[in-house]
Amino acid sequence: MNMKASRLLGARAPSPALSAQREQSSRRRKAGRLRRVAGEGARVPSINGRVSDVVSSQHVSVLPDDHVHVWRVPLNHSSEDTTLSLEVLSPDEREKAARFRFAKDKNQFVQARAALRFILGQYLNVTPQDLEFSYGHHGKPGLANGEASLRFNLSHRDGLALIAVTRGREIGVDVELVRADVPVFEIADVSFSSAESATLHGLRESLRAKGFYNCWTRKEAYVKARGDGLSSPLKQFDVSLTPGDPAKLLRVRDDDNEIDRWTLQEIPAGENYVAALAVEGTDLNVTCRDWNLPQ
Ligand SMILES: CC(C)(COP(=O)(O)OP(=O)(O)OC[C@H]1O[C@@H](n2cnc3c(N)ncnc32)[C@H](O)[C@@H]1OP(=O)(O)O)[C@@H](O)C(=O)NCCC(=O)NCCS
Repeated sequence: MNMKASRLLGARAPSPALSAQREQSSRRRKAGRLRRVAGEGARVPSINGRVSDVVSSQHVSVLPDDHVHVWRVPLNHSSEDTTLSLEVLSPDEREKAARFRFAKDKNQFVQARAALRFILGQYLNVTPQDLEFSYGHHGKPGLANGEASLRFNLSHRDGLALIAVTRGREIGVDVELVRADVPVFEIADVSFSSAESATLHGLRESLRAKGFYNCWTRKEAYVKARGDGLSSPLKQFDVSLTPGDPAKLLRVRDDDNEIDRWTLQEIPAGENYVAALAVEGTDLNVTCRDWNLPQ
């Protein structure tokens, strides 16, 4: 099955253009509502119609070396909200946004990127549009300047983005929406190791979908942490997948040291989603926080 094609299902046509006046007043209203809702009672900044007015928050900027923050950002299908989010994107990100064929995919890319810029900007105490990204060989984004130790990864799927942030260690995150009609064994044949496929086949039917998504998200989070993307030999490493078992990298062919190098963790992403985090190191403090874009 082509997962990318499945993501395109349900794409909606762009909403009709608003008149200039209506759009301006609506954006002002939306801008005032753009806010981050952090755990631990952090301040809630509003942008008052201009993205450069964002106030940094003490709580967001405090990220000790052994901590990982995973931000959950609900995304919506509103092209209006996307217009607002576009303001903080760089020219190359806007060009990328303009190339999406379906409004749904464009909206989610733009809103997730905007959220990424707001969140990272607050750790670094810079305005979101001042951040510059560079890209690894396989497209993994990182910070081009600013605080070099800050590392992050992003995943977005059907209405939800996860943004994982840490310091001085590689990190990857993946979220998937659970679909009941997914041909789990067909995909496992292509992407899972023989040990993972055997474990999946051994699960009773009621646990199979969860086991499948556990495996998928953990593998993807790991290859994203390494930055390898599609070039990674997916069958040459094993992750745990049985529902209830802790997330774990179980084996990496020809490299026993890898297993002790990484922490894998399931992330509570919400009903119908399965998500995983892979991060270099052990004994880490992982917390989830919520960030809301305008609705
Ligand atoms: C990037 C990739 C690794 C994941 O993409 P995806 O699942 O389609 O999408 P996600 O939403 O999880 O991640 C996309 C984000 O990852 C980041 N990213 C891009 N390339 C990356 C890389 N090589 N490594 C880590 N992160 C990367 C970007 O921030 C991107 O977000 P963007 O839309 O703002 O550019 C891509 O190479 C891919 O399609 N991998 C599929 C690999 C696979 O078959 N996995 C099966 C596991 S069993």
